[in-house]
Amino acid sequence: PTSDASLVERARRAKAALGDRVFVLGHHYQRDEVIDFADVTGDSFKLAQQAAARPQAPYVVFCGVHFMAESADILTADDQQVVLPDLAAGCSMADMAATAQVEDAWDDLAELLGEDALASVTPVTYMNSSAAIKAFTGRHEGTICTSSNAATALRWAFERTGGVDGPGKVLFLPDQHLGRNTWVRDLGGSLDDCVVWDPHRPMGGLTREQVRAARMILWRGHCSVHGRFTTEAVEQARAEIPGVRVIVHPECRYDVCELADEIGSTERIIATIAAAPAGTSWVVGTELNLVNRLRQMFPEQRIAFLEKNVCYCSTMNRIDLPHLVWALESLVEGRVVNRIQVDPDVAHWARVALSRMLSLPG
Ligand code: 13P
Ligand code: SF4
Repeated sequence: PTSDASLVERARRAKAALGDRVFVLGHHYQRDEVIDFADVTGDSFKLAQQAAARPQAPYVVFCGVHFMAESADILTADDQQVVLPDLAAGCSMADMAATAQVEDAWDDLAELLGEDALASVTPVTYMNSSAAIKAFTGRHEGTICTSSNAATALRWAFERTGGVDGPGKVLFLPDQHLGRNTWVRDLGGSLDDCVVWDPHRPMGGLTREQVRAARMILWRGHCSVHGRFTTEAVEQARAEIPGVRVIVHPECRYDVCELADEIGSTERIIATIAAAPAGTSWVVGTELNLVNRLRQMFPEQRIAFLEKNVCYCSTMNRIDLPHLVWALESLVEGRVVNRIQVDPDVAHWARVALSRMLSLPG
């Protein structure tokens, strides 16, 4: 809760003192006390677009997690400085794909498929990944995607290699659930076309035949928050709340998404609930800060959380008002703290992959 009035006042003063010199971006999973100071809020895609539009400010304070701040650094101008108020705000899913693991997997795929066949494998990498993995994607002619454009990105990838029914494959990094959900639900593919590449096992734990037959090679990564939602919780909600609409984020497991009425990015969840008739009952399967905010935004709707056990994203929550005040007051004093600065070569190739995503049809 925004309990400390003096901290709120300090944040206000620092932001006013900085004026147009600072632009604050806030992801929907941020605490209310932080969102109150955001110039723009959004899902990962909208925030990347905002950074690419190069706000007229030398300082961009990113209230979100590390991979988002890295992407903002890559997409903003060279003379703009991106600040992440707490450097410990990482993402466990992004950490599930290390650069060496992904490079090794690519070499293994060359061995399993043959160098020639590797040309028909396109990496499609979820935004929730390090800049280095995005650079790998750019070097290998793939694209980044977010939860709001994963279907478009996958279609683009398959179009390169003969279409959805053609012989091409996608290496989807690092969220197996988003990859599987998008392939089956949006592209009409089969679960049987998917294999899971386990970076901790030789050759991903797969046989040559399995890899050759697959269309979607899914990295064994997941979100520790969304992975906790269960089919039992959906069934219980349906039993307890007559006419309930179930809306979940596509980082949820396939079986949970199968039972949901709606699936969408954080921005889409907000828009869907906003567009519904007053008095609609919802259970929402995404991070708890956002679900609590939905209740405040739409008091005319009946909004419940999908699981009873608390489900904040602990790393998103690391950005709190004390850290934001510290970052802003430091800027007022002329000190840039917690700057996120991606290595220029990594940034170049990551920008190639991010720009491809930004140029995909909307
Ligand atoms: P959105 O792109 O839907 O906001 O989801 C991002 C996310 O998972 C942040 O963790
Ligand atoms: Fe990462 Fe999941 Fe948190 Fe998003 S909600 S930042 S994917 S751990």
